[in-house]
Amino acid sequence: SDQLHSAAYPWSHSGFMAAYDAASIRRGHQVYQQVCAACHGLKRIAYRNLVGVCYTEDEAKEMAAEKEYTDGPDDTGAYFERPGKLSDYIQSPYKNENEARYANNGGLPPDLSLITKARHGGADYIFALLTGYRDPPAGVVIAEGQHWNPYFPGGRIQMPPPIYDGGVEYEDGTEATASQMAKDVTTFLAWAAEPEADERKKMGLKFIAGLALCGAAAGWYKRFLWSIYK
Ligand code: HEM
Repeated sequence: SDQLHSAAYPWSHSGFMAAYDAASIRRGHQVYQQVCAACHGLKRIAYRNLVGVCYTEDEAKEMAAEKEYTDGPDDTGAYFERPGKLSDYIQSPYKNENEARYANNGGLPPDLSLITKARHGGADYIFALLTGYRDPPAGVVIAEGQHWNPYFPGGRIQMPPPIYDGGVEYEDGTEATASQMAKDVTTFLAWAAEPEADERKKMGLKFIAGLALCGAAAGWYKRFLWSIYK
């Protein structure tokens, strides 16, 4: 096919000793919340997952409380709206698939929780997609509501270009160029797809260190056992 393959980028979180860049996750969450969340849910991430990673507990509580959640049934069997809590998951902005497609010219914005795992190319693909919008090549006809992106399979995508220079104003003062935003939101989404990765890598290191100690002790003990033979 004509589909362009993304370049391989040096993500801070690639490699068994590498941890996520917390400042980038936080900026990426800001991009997600101010741009992507208008169309995409993140249903595997609860507000509590953000605590200690890129927000304090108070910040995460405040963010959750800005959203409305349907709860119930209560004693009378009624459902009711209440402000979000830390244990709530980040919902899709749409009630169901029909509403999502209706709002997007027939396209369906996927939940982004596992998107860096679900697509071939992973984080490299997401970054390339976000920064890859182009004018269609001569002769290619684009329907109303479609856009040209050579990284997307088939090239015709229903998602309008979501990021551009200055699309958000970063709290930490970082200049919000389109590529900076694409990098940060991709880092955030890669983290969201494996929120336990840093912990897992740390445990792995401890395990290897423990194994090395046991190996050294076993070696010393073997020499001790054999030391009576000259
Ligand atoms: C599809 C990311 C903002 C509407 C997608 C896909 C990704 C993505 C990774 C899947 C592409 C694939 O299937 O390979 C993002 C990110 C955003 C963002 C990171 C914020 C920076 C938006 C916004 C809208 C939107 C604001 C609505 C105005 C859609 C739609 C699709 C889609 C309709 C389906 C496209 C198709 O199947 O043709 N998005 N998106 N997205 N997105 Fe977004």
